[in-house]
Amino acid sequence: MTRTPLVAGNWKMNGRRGLAGEIAAALTGSLSENVEVALCPPYPYLVALGDALPAGVGLGAQDVCDHQDGAFTGEVSAEMLADLGCRYVIVGHSERREYYGESDDLVASKFLRAREAGLVPILCVGETLRQREAGDTEQVVVQQMMTVVEAAGAGAFENAVLAYEPVWAIGTGLTASPEEAQAVHALLRGTLAKSAPEVAAKMRLLYGGSVKADNAAPLFAQPDIDGGLIGGASLKADEFIAICRAAG
Ligand code: PGA
Repeated sequence: MTRTPLVAGNWKMNGRRGLAGEIAAALTGSLSENVEVALCPPYPYLVALGDALPAGVGLGAQDVCDHQDGAFTGEVSAEMLADLGCRYVIVGHSERREYYGESDDLVASKFLRAREAGLVPILCVGETLRQREAGDTEQVVVQQMMTVVEAAGAGAFENAVLAYEPVWAIGTGLTASPEEAQAVHALLRGTLAKSAPEVAAKMRLLYGGSVKADNAAPLFAQPDIDGGLIGGASLKADEFIAICRAAG
């Protein structure tokens, strides 16, 4: 099964309007056709970035409301994101889970809303350092994925993206070794394959957590790592382009 790699940049709450133009200009003409690329800026910069990005580079949001339109002050709906031209939306990022108390059930609702609006959800799963040290990594990541499978059905992962991001590796400079990451990716794919083998075989599984230009290639060379979700390094055009090149 060949899966086209995807490299998605997650700016988190960083950047200003000027960064959109700067990164979009740098990406123009710099990317290979063998890799899909997406950028997820903060909400206020979606339009500016969407207008400036070269054709083929996807636009994504970092979060979405679990409800449709209505009285949810401060929230942004999946329909609105689709309306702005987004293709992707990150759901269940560990920073949302940790700082905003998002539960697996809430994340599953967000995933469903994204699907209903025709967006491609990028579902993040990952264990904390304490969970890893307690030997709970497998159970934690499978549970995070299975809550969505139970709510939405395994078929909902058709065209969806799963991102394994060990929490201890995010923004810390630590990365899972390629072998450690591959083991978790194979477990996740294998678990989904029990109920939906074809969907599992096609699903793109990204690794995230301190991916940089100088460590990306061996991660992306693993059979079940289909690209990356890139935080800090997506704010620097040269670094991000080098990571995209490492993927294809
Ligand atoms: P990082 O973030 O690349 O800065 O570690 C990854 C992420 O949180 O998606």
